[in-house]
Amino acid sequence: MVTAEDPTRPGRELRRRYTAADLGVLTRDELSRFAPAGDGDPQADVTLAWELLYRLEPELYDRLVSAERLHPGVLGWLPRGVDRIVEVGAGAGRLTLELIGRGRELVAVEPAAPLRRILARKLGQAEHGGRGRVIHGFFDDLPVASGSADLVVACSAFTPAPGHGGEAGLSEMERVCRPGGRVAIIWPNHLGWLAAHGYTYVRFAGPMAAEFASPEEAAELAGIFYPRAAAEVRRLGQRRVPFEVLGINPPRDLAFKMVGP
Ligand SMILES: C[S@@+](CC[C@H](N)C(=O)[O-])C[C@H]1O[C@@H](n2cnc3c(N)ncnc32)[C@H](O)[C@@H]1O
Repeated sequence: MVTAEDPTRPGRELRRRYTAADLGVLTRDELSRFAPAGDGDPQADVTLAWELLYRLEPELYDRLVSAERLHPGVLGWLPRGVDRIVEVGAGAGRLTLELIGRGRELVAVEPAAPLRRILARKLGQAEHGGRGRVIHGFFDDLPVASGSADLVVACSAFTPAPGHGGEAGLSEMERVCRPGGRVAIIWPNHLGWLAAHGYTYVRFAGPMAAEFASPEEAAELAGIFYPRAAAEVRRLGQRRVPFEVLGINPPRDLAFKMVGP
């Protein structure tokens, strides 16, 4: 049985980090979404491996996202001075901490309990953190009143797959949005799917790099999360690593929809 923050697997890449034995960490509601057939294998399903990461090694995940900051254009696009913001799949708060001063109230919905704890701790230390509330929930069943938010947003969390949003999740986000408000999917995948659902794509230009704490951390985290880039990251020996080197799209885009009256 694996325990949280297991010291026996430093450096093991994400695809090989967990086994089916680790699925015991998931609640029944989580299993029904992330391994619905009941036979999930995190070595064959990397999405499932990410879910185990959030629950077994949340601080490791937080170190990764702390390095992968959002493009300033994305942050500039998001509204300020609104009444209520709902963020779904808030994680350890990469976007939440950017949003917290922008609304009278912010509701951060996050299913993974260890990430909720990290986010609550960060909000407790943040200016305007008292405006934030961290609650449990899923895209397809948001515990938030209809028409109650000016902005309903998800960052690096929503996909068309039913367990991670899907048709039901998008409908829920739109239900929660107030007429005249916006639903925004930050760092989207599946642009065609979102376009077919009436979403407009926005992309901000310019070079972007992940900003790790040190060259050593860059090498360590690349070994776990970007193994194909690990040798090059070690060779560069730098704290800042261009996203092209990591082999992923930078967090520079979004897709949004204005919800009509
Ligand atoms: C890659 S993380 C992104 C976290 C955060 N938004 C960020 O940008 O750092 C994906 C997040 O989506 C959450 N998530 C996964 N499935 C979900 C679902 N069905 N409903 C709501 N959140 C979900 C995960 O728990 C995780 O916090």
